[in-house]
Amino acid sequence: MSANITPHGERAPLVHARNLVREYAFGDTTVRALDGVDLDLPGGRFVSIVGPSGAGKSTLLHILGALDQPTSGEIVVDGVPLTGLGDAQASEFRRRRVGFIFQFFNLVPTMSAWENVALPRLLDNQSLRKAKPEAVALLERVGLHDRVDHRPNELSGGQMQRVAIARSLIMDPAIVLADEPTGNLDSRTGAAVLELLATLAHDRPDRLVVMVTHDATAAAATDQVITVRDGRVVI
Ligand SMILES: Nc1ncnc2c1ncn2[C@@H]1O[C@H](COP(=O)(O)OP(=O)(O)OP(=O)(O)O)[C@@H](O)[C@H]1O
Ligand SMILES: [Mg+2]
Repeated sequence: MSANITPHGERAPLVHARNLVREYAFGDTTVRALDGVDLDLPGGRFVSIVGPSGAGKSTLLHILGALDQPTSGEIVVDGVPLTGLGDAQASEFRRRRVGFIFQFFNLVPTMSAWENVALPRLLDNQSLRKAKPEAVALLERVGLHDRVDHRPNELSGGQMQRVAIARSLIMDPAIVLADEPTGNLDSRTGAAVLELLATLAHDRPDRLVVMVTHDATAAAATDQVITVRDGRVVI
């Protein structure tokens, strides 16, 4: 039974946040990057976070992925309370339950496409070889069956991002977090990536895909748009 199904069978939200505050000390002052964010997001949904530069979008995404912790407030993702997790627990949470997709792909240049996809398994102390069939299946899923042995520098931007998407799925995460995943792609390639991200969410009622974007067209492709301004969610 998945952690986000309650004993009564109804589905608890995959993300539950209450009064999230994140302050950064900056010299003598503090910067309030998040100023009381409440969120409840169910699985099966493709959600975008939009808002002006400095609004707190990346800060929020990092907290959802246990890359950062709030100064105060409550955050539960896939049934796991993320406040007060130690470093080792946070890193295990990230490895096992979160898929990350970045604007600049973050692929390992010396590894082939399939090895890049399988890499999270290696980081989880499993063998790269054993993960190969699954990595290849994921590359097929993102339309790269004929690029399995290519290195990143032998791929186009859109292909690199699709490798990164396949990599984000190899641990079968509950939540996929993408920070400007189409920021480096032309509009047609970006549209294909958005369609893929939507499919990942819609195929699985227990999986949530959250994307930060500056691009209104990209946000329009999602099921729900969350606008953040000055560290707050605005309706
Ligand atoms: N490590 C830090 N130390 C101090 N202030 C920080 C730090 N990280 C972020 N901030 C501040 O927190 C606020 C929110 O930053 P964040 O990166 O979340 O914005 P963003 O919405 O992702 O912006 P962008 O669209 O430019 O990526 C900004 O005012 C930023 O200057
Ligand atoms: Mg940002």
